[in-house]
Amino acid sequence: MQLQGAFVFLSALAATTASPIHRRCDGSGAGNPPAPANGVTYVLPSTGGPTSLPAPDAPLKHIVVGHGVQNYTCTTVGAAGVSAGALAVLHDITALYPGSGPDAISPTTWNSLTSTVLRTTSLPINTNDVSAPFPAPADLTVSGIPNPLPFIGHHYFDINNTPTFSLHDDAELLKAQKISNIPAPSTADKGLNSEGAVDWLYLSDKGGSVGLSGVYRVLTSGGSSSACSAVGETQSVPYTAMYWLY
Ligand SMILES: *[C@@H]1O[C@H](CO)[C@@H](O)[C@H](O)[C@H]1NC(C)=O
Repeated sequence: MQLQGAFVFLSALAATTASPIHRRCDGSGAGNPPAPANGVTYVLPSTGGPTSLPAPDAPLKHIVVGHGVQNYTCTTVGAAGVSAGALAVLHDITALYPGSGPDAISPTTWNSLTSTVLRTTSLPINTNDVSAPFPAPADLTVSGIPNPLPFIGHHYFDINNTPTFSLHDDAELLKAQKISNIPAPSTADKGLNSEGAVDWLYLSDKGGSVGLSGVYRVLTSGGSSSACSAVGETQSVPYTAMYWLY
């Protein structure tokens, strides 16, 4: 309950971020390490559904938006495909968190950010070059957001099929294992072809990580498999998600 109160307070702050009174004065602006250090309470989104992900047990390091593809292979005609990894480009949105400082956006814009990125920016994956799937790193301009979102890294499955998050050229690295998943809320953006929003997840370090211990995938848009039309078919479904890295 205390957290809900905090978010209402943050929303009120966000409505007035144009005022210079709310400028940060702790030096944590652009160009500095983005670890939140400004006294703001960052409240991990929850679905409001009957189940929820376990609460974070470590300090928040970054909030990023991921845009890419969820891959599937088909083993049964008429059934959904089996997950076969994912690729995404990650951009840092920590400074956009409502009420957190001069770059903060409104709660409404924040809650629809993954949908906005899915529908208004191009898919940053070279789907025809398996050996070099990612374009050159670049900041991301998003309509309605004043400053480009800083490029921060990539999400991919490594050679051992381990979900991996590489930030700042591996300076921060999460080698992850899935701990829990819950369905996205019914209000989630179902994706470019209405295929459905992928589950919200919690993954933790499986060993070999650097500076990161876990990640939540929340506010998902799109990415689900649709019914397979042939055995051996592969699907590569565009998705976006917000990743909260601890
Ligand atoms: C996913 O599919 C894309 C093509 O859309 C391909 O470039 C990529 O290598 C695949 N990734 C995985 C992990 O299977």
